[in-house]
Amino acid sequence: SYCNQRRQECDNQMKRIAIFASGNGSNFQVIAEQFKVHFVFSDHRDAFVLKRAETLGVPAYVFELKEFADKQAYEQALIDLLDKHQIDLVVLAGYMKIIGPTLLAKYEGRIINIHPAYLPEFPGAHGIEDAWEADVPESGVTVHWVDSGVDTGQIIKQVRVPRLADDHLEQFEERIHAAEYQLYPTVLEALGVEMIEF
Ligand code: GRF
Repeated sequence: SYCNQRRQECDNQMKRIAIFASGNGSNFQVIAEQFKVHFVFSDHRDAFVLKRAETLGVPAYVFELKEFADKQAYEQALIDLLDKHQIDLVVLAGYMKIIGPTLLAKYEGRIINIHPAYLPEFPGAHGIEDAWEADVPESGVTVHWVDSGVDTGQIIKQVRVPRLADDHLEQFEERIHAAEYQLYPTVLEALGVEMIEF
């Protein structure tokens, strides 16, 4: 095909992604093993995701909100980074800050998030624990566009994950995460993110 012959042109049509992650970074790792990640950003200097980035050879940037006068200045620095790398799609993966008006004004419609519950069920920072406490027979995982609310944006794709009768929280959690590691790559491929070739 045209794309196979003219790799350069083909790549240029592919979406360039950056990942924002605050902590562990297991979703980042799963994505970076399959897709070209132009950079990872962390808002915490001690986040384990930075170690993963180093191992994987993915460029990493880190700065903390407290290093800036306010959230507007912090988000302006993020915009400068995204613009510089010509990022088409911001992929939130355990990024624990709300996207504020400064970043949204420039990038709304180009930011996606993964949430460890079946939205609109159990939004917020404790989707897994909240579903567990509610004793529901099933929860799930959701990838959605990011708007100004907390886990309220338009849903792109979601899957159900059962809670089994003899589950402990740890097993339920593991099943949710396994579903995330399947769902996020599926969505990124569908959105036209450049994959790594082996
Ligand atoms: C994931 O469960 C994700 O759904 C939620 O935060 C967690 C991040 O985990 N938003 P990790 O940092 O990717 O390991």
